[in-house]
Amino acid sequence: MDTKGLSGKYIVKELGDSDIQDIFNLCRENRLYYEYCPPMVTEESIKKDMTALPPNTKISDKFYIGFYDEGKLIAVMDLISGYPEQKIAYIGFFMTNVAIQKRGVGTEIISELCDYLKRKGFISIRLAWVKGNPQAEHFWLKNMFVALKETTSNVADSVILAERCL
Ligand SMILES: CC(C)(COP(=O)(O)OP(=O)(O)OC[C@H]1O[C@@H](n2cnc3c(N)ncnc32)[C@H](O)[C@@H]1OP(=O)(O)O)[C@@H](O)C(=O)NCCC(=O)NCCS
Repeated sequence: MDTKGLSGKYIVKELGDSDIQDIFNLCRENRLYYEYCPPMVTEESIKKDMTALPPNTKISDKFYIGFYDEGKLIAVMDLISGYPEQKIAYIGFFMTNVAIQKRGVGTEIISELCDYLKRKGFISIRLAWVKGNPQAEHFWLKNMFVALKETTSNVADSVILAERCL
């Protein structure tokens, strides 16, 4: 996957150790998310997330990426290509900078991602949100994700697995 093609508007970059402080600063302001998905983020938890993989996937399938606007990190995404099936992509994490929230930026990034993945031959995107998190639920439903089932995960006892067909 050529991550640079993921957005026409923002610079997209694969994130590494030298970006951990910026990621931490973005994440720590999103308090509501960590109320539903504890524990609170730390620099160590970010470092771990950078290489965490779902079952039967390889590190080359994983894209832990940042979206930049005028040099500033405005969003972080953990994207897995080919999970749980070859033509499905999985968003393990997506978060925007609180300073730019509620202006349609998150929706714009997801729309561009969908266009890109469709062009690449993917048939759908899957993800899960913690049941009851109003912000996440509202956002993903608004972005045309449809609940598939309620299930459990390593982040919470009750999550909603959802899918958007491309
Ligand atoms: C969810 C998130 C990515 C949305 O980013 P964004 O740039 O604000 O996205 P948009 O502006 O396109 O849309 C935000 C929508 O959420 C709504 N929203 C924001 N906070 C909300 C809340 N506490 N309760 C309900 N809806 C809320 C906004 O009103 C808006 O919907 P609207 O256009 O119908 O009014 C961002 O809020 C975030 O990073 N949250 C923390 C991480 C998270 O929950 N990620 C998703 C789960 S993996």
